Amino acid sequence: MLDGKKILFSGMQATGSLHIGNYLGALKNWVSLSNDYECFYSVVDMHSITIRQDPQELRNNARNILMIYIAAGLDPIKNCIYYQSHVPAHAELSWILNCFTYMGELNRMTQFKDKSSKHDTNINVGLYTYPVLQAADILLYQADAVPVGKDQLQHLELCRDVAHRFNAIYGDVFTIPEPSLGKAGAKIRSLQEPTKKMSKSDENLNAAIFLLDDRDTIIRKFKKAVTDNFANIKYDAENQPGIANLMDIYAVLGEKTIAQVESEFAGKGYGDFKLAVGETVADALKPFRERFYELKEDKAYIDTIIKNNAEKAAYTANKTLRKVQKKIGFPISN
Ligand code: TRP
Repeated sequence: MLDGKKILFSGMQATGSLHIGNYLGALKNWVSLSNDYECFYSVVDMHSITIRQDPQELRNNARNILMIYIAAGLDPIKNCIYYQSHVPAHAELSWILNCFTYMGELNRMTQFKDKSSKHDTNINVGLYTYPVLQAADILLYQADAVPVGKDQLQHLELCRDVAHRFNAIYGDVFTIPEPSLGKAGAKIRSLQEPTKKMSKSDENLNAAIFLLDDRDTIIRKFKKAVTDNFANIKYDAENQPGIANLMDIYAVLGEKTIAQVESEFAGKGYGDFKLAVGETVADALKPFRERFYELKEDKAYIDTIIKNNAEKAAYTANKTLRKVQKKIGFPISN
């Protein structure tokens, strides 16, 4: 508890650009959770270097993601929005937790297996202990809740196991976090291969709508979206996954039900429908994009947010870290 509120922690990597799937699947939910919890939303740039990064690109992406959090509606005064690398306690606790995590546990992590097969010339130790750093992120803030997607549940389970193990030896040091899966919103799929998730690392740039895409780009990508030759705008995810995906996107961002979308486009062609989806998405993202570019101009404001929030995060994180150091028997400095 902090200021009488339960604590929430989550983070996103500083790689690539965020797309509408990230917004609808995570960020939108973060904004509504921020009313009920004391929230820490980190840009986890230390996790990002488990895959080789271009320095300038990493720095730009990290700052963009931080501004995207704010542009999406997270108040940076109410929510602690910060860079993981600005708070050394993450690295320090991560080392300690490495000594309480078994290799057998890390060997089972499916994300490690996936990523090491994709990056087989750089299977570094950081990629292996990635989930331990993630556990440190969460435990430092004594988080009660962690909003994550299904793909992160295994990491969260590991975090809980390590926290239990530590607590069993040293007493109640860590709060045991619960996953918060959020409302099962529509899963947004690739515009080019609609049976697959929309992904920020897709090589086909037409597959995803990025939050910072401009109106023309958005409309062009929807025009090129892969559909089928049924010539029928009906929700049938099995046989018409492309159309179902477009209907999902149109329904969520246009605030309509699927039934309303079906009747609106009964008897109409795919061309009209794709244009309507493109325009609706472009309209929905417009205020977001405008806010983002305003923030980008206001360098001094963002710099202040970054500095103040790093201090705020460090204050909470260091409290936990000091407690841990004391418990495990590190010499106490006066
Ligand atoms: N591994 C998470 C992802 O790729 C990002 C992350 C790092 C995270 N630390 C976290 C998410 C702590 C939740 C809590 O999505």
